[in-house]
Amino acid sequence: MHKTMTDGARQYSPLNGIECLRVEPSRLLPSLQQDARSGLLASPRSMPPKYFYDERGARLFDAICDTQEYYPTRTEEVLLQQHAREIISQVKPDHIIEFGSGTSRKTRHLLDACEGLGRRLTYWPFDVCEPVLRTTGHALMHDYDWLKVSPLLGDYHAGLDELPVPQGPCLYLFLGGTIGNFDSVSAHQFLVEICDRMRADDSLVMGADRVKAHDVLHAAYNDAEGITAEFNLNLLEVLNRGLDADFDSARFSHRAVYNATREQIEMYLVARERHQVRIDALDCNIRLQDGESILTEISRKFSDESLQAMLTEAGYTLDRHYQPDNRYYSLLLARPTSIGSKKSEL
Ligand code: SAH
Ligand code: AVI
Repeated sequence: MHKTMTDGARQYSPLNGIECLRVEPSRLLPSLQQDARSGLLASPRSMPPKYFYDERGARLFDAICDTQEYYPTRTEEVLLQQHAREIISQVKPDHIIEFGSGTSRKTRHLLDACEGLGRRLTYWPFDVCEPVLRTTGHALMHDYDWLKVSPLLGDYHAGLDELPVPQGPCLYLFLGGTIGNFDSVSAHQFLVEICDRMRADDSLVMGADRVKAHDVLHAAYNDAEGITAEFNLNLLEVLNRGLDADFDSARFSHRAVYNATREQIEMYLVARERHQVRIDALDCNIRLQDGESILTEISRKFSDESLQAMLTEAGYTLDRHYQPDNRYYSLLLARPTSIGSKKSEL
């Protein structure tokens, strides 16, 4: 069952003075080697997107957010700016736990609203990328001297059982449209898992990208500066380091296409020529054909109906649906539909 903040089951690692809680996996997850074996040796080839986010990958993602073409970040940011006060006034959180928090740049609007409303709280950014957690934690503690920041280092796919269960209303945050990087089964499981932790006075705020004109979607993942391409190709450096492999990024190109049938962007690394890659950690070579691709990410886009269905099926009631006039993006405020006796006992 859920552990409290005070139990001693976790390791603490100092992050420049900030204590970073290492969230232990509550279920067995494949290692990089296992993911590479099942993904890179399969046909078609693929890798899970979490490996994008080494320190350079996280910085490149942040740079993507500033490109002209990548509308999700600025659209979500405006929605948060406009509605943060209402969200905070309604939820009255003592805690914010954010999944895949990255640089927490948009979360600052919620923190500003807390400051304006005189709400003091603890912020728990949860991310797989330790360097970004460290820098972000520092910056937030510096900029909000009233805020307690408790970074959580871990993989949210490994289960949430070992997350702290703080006292008082908790706002769970899942921003950026990252839910779209999960396939529909994993998205459902993840949302159910969050819902199962929630008590009557907890809420979820989630961002989700919307289906729209294909050229807008295509441009967002094919920016003119080539930052998304760099972000995608950086995965090969992560694999070289982690698997003792010799991927040559000059032999691959970035490809991102909108699959209208599946309503998702699909991002690939495509071999520019026939060649062989050595992967020492797997003790094997892979032979890539000219034009052969590795699927590195899906980014699902939602309609009103698919968003509503995803939330309802996972056990949530939608309280507010914020969206801009062009309906490019959704920011959803939801709470668990039924709170059984199990939750009131917690
Ligand atoms: N929420 C931020 C960042 C989105 S990028 C925003 O809206 O801008 C996705 C973030 O999720 C990255 O910071 C990445 O490091 C993190 N992430 C990806 N896979 C993860 C996993 N399996 N567990 C925890 N964090 C993960
Ligand atoms: C983190 N995630 C929501 C981004 C997206 O849009 O799917 C990752 C990304 N990939 C390429 N550009 C941005």
